[in-house]
Amino acid sequence: MDLEAVHRRYADCIRCPLHAGRTRIVMGEGNPHSPLLFVGEGPGADEDRQGRPFVGRAGQLLNRMLEAAEIPREEVFITNIVKCRPPGNRTPKEEEMETCKTILREQFIAIRPRLLITLGSAPTRALIDPRARITRIRGQWFERKGVRMMPTFHPAYLLRNPAGKRDAWEDFQAIRDAYRAILAE
Ligand code: URA
Repeated sequence: MDLEAVHRRYADCIRCPLHAGRTRIVMGEGNPHSPLLFVGEGPGADEDRQGRPFVGRAGQLLNRMLEAAEIPREEVFITNIVKCRPPGNRTPKEEEMETCKTILREQFIAIRPRLLITLGSAPTRALIDPRARITRIRGQWFERKGVRMMPTFHPAYLLRNPAGKRDAWEDFQAIRDAYRAILAE
C-alpha cells in the first residue's frame, strides 16, 4: 500500500481517545520515499489547526537545524508517534502510542526509510527502548532489521534548554553524514 492509501485508510481514525480532541489528524509530510524519517511526539496546537507536523515554534527550530545541516525539509519525511493532539500538549500515554503505532508501522512499510530519528523521549521510548533516558542515549545509533535509528533531543526541549543545542547539532551532523552516504550509494 502506498503512503497516500495508508493516510486515507486512517483519515477518520477513532482507535484511541485522542481523536475526540483533535481538529485535524496530522499524518505527517515530506518525501514518501525518503530514506530519512523523523518521528516526533505529537501534534501541538498549531499542528492540530493546520494538519501539518512541526509548524509551530518547535517546528521552526527543527527547520533551522535541518537547514544548518543542509538537509532540505521536503526531502525527508516528518511525522509523530501519535497523530492526534494530546489535550493541553501532554505527553502521549503509552496505550495511545501503542495504538497509533499501527499507523506508523504502515507508514514505515510504505516509505521504507533507512534512517529513523526519534525526537525526544516519547518516540524514543516507544520505538527504541521503553526505559531510555534521552540525555543518556541521544546521538547513539541503534540498528534494527537494517534500519539505523538515532534518538536526539526534541526541539521543544531545546527551546527550554538551549544548552542542549550543541549536542543536538552534533547529532544533526551525524544524521547528515549518514543521509549523504545513503544518497551517494
Ligand atoms: N511537537 C511534536 O512532537 N510534533 C509536532 O508535530 C509539533 C511539535
